[in-house]
Amino acid sequence: MLDEENTRGRNAAPLPPEIARRRTFAIISHPDAGKTTLTEKLLLYGGAIQAAGQVRAKGEARRTRSDFMKLEQERGISVSASAMSFEWGGYWLNLVDTPGHEDFSEDTYRTLTAVDAAIMVIDGAKGVESQTRKLFEVCRLRDLPILTFCNKMDRESRDTFEIIDEIQEMLALDVTPASWPIGMGRDFLGAYDLIGDRLELMSRADRNRKAESLAIQGLEDPALAGHVPADQLETLREEVEMARGLLPALDPRAVLEGHMTPIWFGSAINSFGVSELLAGIGRLAPPPQPRRTLSRQVTADEDKVSGFVFKVQANMDPKHRDRVAFLRLCSGHFQRGMKLRHVRTAKQMAISSPVLFLAAERETAEDAWAGDIIGIPNHGQLRIGDALTEGEDLRFAGIPAFAPELLQAVRAGDPMKAKHLDKALMQFAEEGAAKVFKPTIGGAWIVGVVGALQFDVLASRIEGEYGLPVRLEQTQFSGARWITGPKEALERFAAQNKGHMATDHDGDPVYLTRLQWDIDRVGRDWPDLTLSATKETL
Ligand code: G4P
Repeated sequence: MLDEENTRGRNAAPLPPEIARRRTFAIISHPDAGKTTLTEKLLLYGGAIQAAGQVRAKGEARRTRSDFMKLEQERGISVSASAMSFEWGGYWLNLVDTPGHEDFSEDTYRTLTAVDAAIMVIDGAKGVESQTRKLFEVCRLRDLPILTFCNKMDRESRDTFEIIDEIQEMLALDVTPASWPIGMGRDFLGAYDLIGDRLELMSRADRNRKAESLAIQGLEDPALAGHVPADQLETLREEVEMARGLLPALDPRAVLEGHMTPIWFGSAINSFGVSELLAGIGRLAPPPQPRRTLSRQVTADEDKVSGFVFKVQANMDPKHRDRVAFLRLCSGHFQRGMKLRHVRTAKQMAISSPVLFLAAERETAEDAWAGDIIGIPNHGQLRIGDALTEGEDLRFAGIPAFAPELLQAVRAGDPMKAKHLDKALMQFAEEGAAKVFKPTIGGAWIVGVVGALQFDVLASRIEGEYGLPVRLEQTQFSGARWITGPKEALERFAAQNKGHMATDHDGDPVYLTRLQWDIDRVGRDWPDLTLSATKETL
């Protein structure tokens, strides 16, 4: 099998079949490129949802701030969409949702640590946009394989070569066409499938119908003339010949290493190109990949179960303070009721009601394999970055926390309820919704976020979930850095800079900054100490 050979080396033992057929991926895109629409069509084809529209509601709700708040309160919707599993063509696909809003990039980054591949959706008229580019950079850090879907070909789009050039140049990535569009906008007929040598024709009559797919014998096949008007056929032949001459041929190994992306041209809203993309995921995206831990590498085929938490969603039901921790299984065959070691606290946890997310529904997971995402309801024990194992002290590396870019002081509207505020803030910090700092001097907590909208969401959730109105106020600080170094130097530094010092929710020291100058000064005067804008959650 192609993927087997490419991801595990020719001499490696094959993965157990249940693991080998798993593909765990996320979709990255700029808002509006069509991620929600594509997700929906993937699920529709995978039989995970019955009708178009079930995922849509979510995409639309994200549009405005007030709607977003409402959505946050109806957290059931977003949690079921956080990870969705479905079968297609013999593969078991796990699609992990990335929050689309620019303000939630940190959450998105962490989501990308839980997948083995990403689909990059771009709008054919707009090309590579800012958010796509940022997310791509995160994928590149992990050499994540990327499959590209150029969407909205039913609208006026840019020239095909121009789009490919832009991806190659902006992302420094080889691009190989997996399909070639025939016409665009009103004249868009479909695409020529360069991998399967087929003609795919789009149906404009029924947006949810799969494209008609015809086997042909290459571009000289006379049968083509019966489906494609002469002028478009001539253009297609010319362009494909040029593309084959100028662009690199598909190299599955380069795709797996993250140096090459195959691109499909389609129209998600018309269900066009979606089956070919699904086939591409099966064929070109890797099965569950090894994960780095501080002590060793964990491979998917190990007998013992292990996994890490990459996301926590709290208070899905405000009446019960429940939380769901999303665990990416990295190895083994998980079965319901298993007792796993919670490495951070060294305690055993019986995982009695794990949840598997089958698109619109949550189902109790009887079993799951490496590569799968399971939800574990808990009362706050599980935090982002936590490992669960069958006994070994594994700590998974590379799950980042980012220094916030915006800081505000937060005070309880009712001073009698200050204790509740402590609890609420700790919870949000553990959930990863905000950074929370307790300054060494002064009473008010400082919360830090990456995007301004998070402040509003935070205030509204504290009020909604804890009945506690809060005031957010300006602070003199504009940045925060984790600070590490030899104990003695650290203590001396903290004593001399009391007004700048704080601790985060794990108790790690943080240096609050006013100006870039503060950071430069530490670099100059304290060579033993390191200021860091990211912290790996362990
Ligand atoms: P997002 O999740 O990436 O933000 O994008 P979403 O799927 O919500 O799509 C953004 C807009 O683009 C939607 O239009 C959607 O209908 C449209 N769209 C998605 N795929 C295609 C496509 O293949 N062709 C065309 N022409 N449009 C597409 P909207 O105006 O926000 O909503 P609507 O009124 O069209 O439903």
